Amino acid sequence: MTMVQEAGAPTAAGDADVLLAVEGLTVEYAGAGDPVRACTDVSFTLRRGEILGVVGESGSGKSTLITALTRLQRPPAVTAAGRVLYHPREGGAPIDLVALSGRRLRALRWTRLSIVLQSAMDALNPVARVGAQFVDVLRTHDRSMSRAQAWDEARRLLGLVGISADRARGFPHELSGGMRQRATIALALACRPELVVMDEPTTAVDVVMQRQILAQVLRLRRELGFAVVFVTHDLSLLLELADRIAVMYAGRIVELAASHEIYRSPLHPYTRGLRDSFPPLHAPVERLEGIPGTPPDLKALPPGCPFAARCPHAFDRCRHELPPLSAHGHRAVACHLHDPDLRDSEEAPS
Ligand SMILES: Nc1ncnc2c1ncn2[C@@H]1O[C@H](COP(=O)(O)OP(=O)(O)OP(=O)(O)O)[C@@H](O)[C@H]1O
Ligand SMILES: [Mg+2]
Repeated sequence: MTMVQEAGAPTAAGDADVLLAVEGLTVEYAGAGDPVRACTDVSFTLRRGEILGVVGESGSGKSTLITALTRLQRPPAVTAAGRVLYHPREGGAPIDLVALSGRRLRALRWTRLSIVLQSAMDALNPVARVGAQFVDVLRTHDRSMSRAQAWDEARRLLGLVGISADRARGFPHELSGGMRQRATIALALACRPELVVMDEPTTAVDVVMQRQILAQVLRLRRELGFAVVFVTHDLSLLLELADRIAVMYAGRIVELAASHEIYRSPLHPYTRGLRDSFPPLHAPVERLEGIPGTPPDLKALPPGCPFAARCPHAFDRCRHELPPLSAHGHRAVACHLHDPDLRDSEEAPS
């Protein structure tokens, strides 16, 4: 069995195509007792211009992962192990974001990587005009830009997400929730970053608005070429948006594959459960199955596969041995059912 350090590794395209290589990222929350590990040994590679979706139930470690990735985490969260190697577009040695000083990190924010956080609707300053917030960001990162140029650029950026230019002079509370969210996304794009990380940016808006925002993200990605890590608990949304999807369970990636593979042929029983938890996109609803049970307590994880207690296919080995994330063609899965050695083994489930 091949271990997947390189689950999303570039193949024919070569290294020049890699934007971010996450290696063994492990994050703990320190507390009174033993630390709680909310993100364990997470590895994946993100290509330039790629949209990677991260999906999992509440508490599976999605926000923990991406706040560690972007170094926005706050105590008691601590990155206990791993590297996040950022490959700058102009070439040169990759930069480990985990080891970067605060000053060098600030130099990369907005211009190289930017973030739309879980409460995106409230991310704008309520007492500053919407356009002024763009002007601030733009002029901080490009000192040669005049105030008038920055206001023009603010109006152009708002236009990109379908907000009319006259709204730039307004205050955030004068915008609808969906507009505020789109303005936050436009702000994240202001300095032409190579990577935009989005944590549930559309949860607070209705489905129609959600679809509009996603369509805009896809269009802007085509025009501007940035890569996205998009976190959500809604797999159906990712199937429309993402190129590849990483499925998280109890702090680990349990499956990583192209969106169409996750939809048509999920390998992990948890992924299958997630897929079957919502109505099919283009077919009549015949069944709607949830996943029975609840995720395990991270403070008291079972010794084997963390999903074993809820898994309809679990067999003895699953309860004792943690399955590693392993290569399965160009995709990856952490499940004993897909261990190639199992075919000849006596313990194979019926
Ligand atoms: N401040 C904290 N202190 C201690 N433990 C925490 C803290 N924040 C999160 N955790 C632990 O980390 C786990 C993962 O939390 P995280 O916020 O990353 O999940 P999530 O997948 O983003 O969930 P949601 O979909 O609800 O946003 C939680 O189940 C919890 O046990
Ligand atoms: Mg979260």
